[in-house]
Amino acid sequence: MFEKLINTSVCLPGCGMFVRHGENELAVFHLTDPDRFVVSENACPHASGNLSAGEIIGHCVTCPVHQWKFDLETGYCAGTDDVILKRYECRVENGVVLADLSKPLPVPPPPKYDF
Ligand code: FES
Repeated sequence: MFEKLINTSVCLPGCGMFVRHGENELAVFHLTDPDRFVVSENACPHASGNLSAGEIIGHCVTCPVHQWKFDLETGYCAGTDDVILKRYECRVENGVVLADLSKPLPVPPPPKYDF
């Protein structure tokens, strides 16, 4: 079931935003080129850093604590296949970001990175 998280206007392009929704602590990322939103757990899977405060470059976010990079399109952490960021299916309707928090998105096959 999709639940309302935030209005799109409060999360600027290229930025992340912390969102508490019930028991869930989430990060909503507003990616560009193309314009889209990604919803993930906020706690970095390494040591619980605040991912919503991380720098976004392209479709990757860098955790502000130890600078691990996560691909928001897959959930993978650069340099390892063992650390996966939980992401949730989301969509935008009438200027609102909605997410299905009932289960994380499936993890795709490991990608190849060159960064
Ligand atoms: S807590 Fe995020 S990289 Fe260590």
